[in-house]
Amino acid sequence: MINTDRLQKQSGIIGNSKSIKKIVDLISQVAEVDISVLITGESGVGKEVIAKAVHKASNRSRKPLVTVNCGAIPEGIIESELFGHKKGSFTGADQNRKGYFEEADKGTIFLDEIGETPIDTQVKLLRVLESGEYIRVGEATTRKTNVRLIAATNKNLEELVKKGLFREDLYFRLKTILLNIPPLRERLEDIGKFVERFSLEFTRSNNIIYKGFVPSAIRLLKQYDWPGNIRELKHFVEKIMVLQKGQRITDEMVMHELNQRINTTLSQNKSLPVAISNNAEKVEIDLILRQLFMLKQDTELIQKILMNSNLPKLGGENFFEVSNSLKSEVNSSNRSLKVFEDDNRFIRDEAIGEISIKDLEKEAISRTLRFFNTNRRKTAKSLGMSERTLYRKIDEYQLENKSKKDIF
Ligand SMILES: Nc1ncnc2c1ncn2[C@@H]1O[C@H](COP(=O)(O)OP(=O)(O)OP(=O)(O)O)[C@@H](O)[C@H]1O
Ligand SMILES: [Mg+2]
Repeated sequence: MINTDRLQKQSGIIGNSKSIKKIVDLISQVAEVDISVLITGESGVGKEVIAKAVHKASNRSRKPLVTVNCGAIPEGIIESELFGHKKGSFTGADQNRKGYFEEADKGTIFLDEIGETPIDTQVKLLRVLESGEYIRVGEATTRKTNVRLIAATNKNLEELVKKGLFREDLYFRLKTILLNIPPLRERLEDIGKFVERFSLEFTRSNNIIYKGFVPSAIRLLKQYDWPGNIRELKHFVEKIMVLQKGQRITDEMVMHELNQRINTTLSQNKSLPVAISNNAEKVEIDLILRQLFMLKQDTELIQKILMNSNLPKLGGENFFEVSNSLKSEVNSSNRSLKVFEDDNRFIRDEAIGEISIKDLEKEAISRTLRFFNTNRRKTAKSLGMSERTLYRKIDEYQLENKSKKDIF
């Protein structure tokens, strides 16, 4: 069997918590066997890191690892992307094309966000998993491929099966080897290691002097619940390294940044409790209170924006004003839908005629993504659209990098 310490080091998996050690153990047991693996866990927990580790530790490591984000491919072309197509089989198919399964032959295919695959495609996935057989779109002949499958999702596939959105046979086939990656808040003991590694990597590549964190600053980081998991922590560390260049990081600095981060999401609400003490328990209560408060407010805000999206004109560069005016509505003591009841005119008169629904949509998606820490599932749910539509819109409005960059 593979040496687990070496595996962990080589694949760059940080963490000494029991749960991470258990995952590394499991990887070492299954990597060399050609069995499919399902990786589950919230956004940002490291599913892709784990998928790469499985491939790297397998006998296929010298062959390609082909990563496919199933949620990002429009439904109409997913089969041609996965299995290839014959020239002329549909408008735009002006060449024969290999699919990802063919490209991954003798290697590994990583189907990220597998919960997003349409049910018809799932039948074909099951077939290729069981027999290696697939058919290019527009062809009649069966082809064969030799691929190891790793799938990942942040959805509850069991729920999807119950709702008839995911095939039970495929689910059973996939979940034989299940790697469930716990959220960061359930392995807080690893925070110190993550912080150290991310700080070192960042300061080294940006020529910044690194003087470390005081222990109480790390303790403070453990008070926060990191909804965006390791990705959020990494961004946080990088930001603090830039802002406090060359300094030893204290708990005041961390507290300030945590507050800053929370305030950005909320757009400075004076009615919130403010964390003023360094006393750990008090800080924790403050943070929790603030988060609960923000969550409630933003839910109300998003609800209002959505309820108003059928108004003739709304949004654009004035969206901030609209949302701010809505925010003050939400913040006022009267929390009813007053905006609708007495007065529909919450867009500035001078903005009428300049704003398009597209502008509004772009702004709403961008801000909601930021609010949910780029978690697309939550964003799509809160905006009342499918994840697939959200992916398409992110692409259309080129929001990808922006939303990630703007987390803080
Ligand atoms: N155990 C780990 N060791 C080192 N880095 C990690 C670990 N887990 C996550 N990361 C880092 O955190 C970030 C997010 O990880 P990754 O993209 O694998 O998450 P994910 O679960 O696939 O997220 P999503 O569901 O949003 O796609 C990456 O920068 C990754 O390198
Ligand atoms: Mg991922």
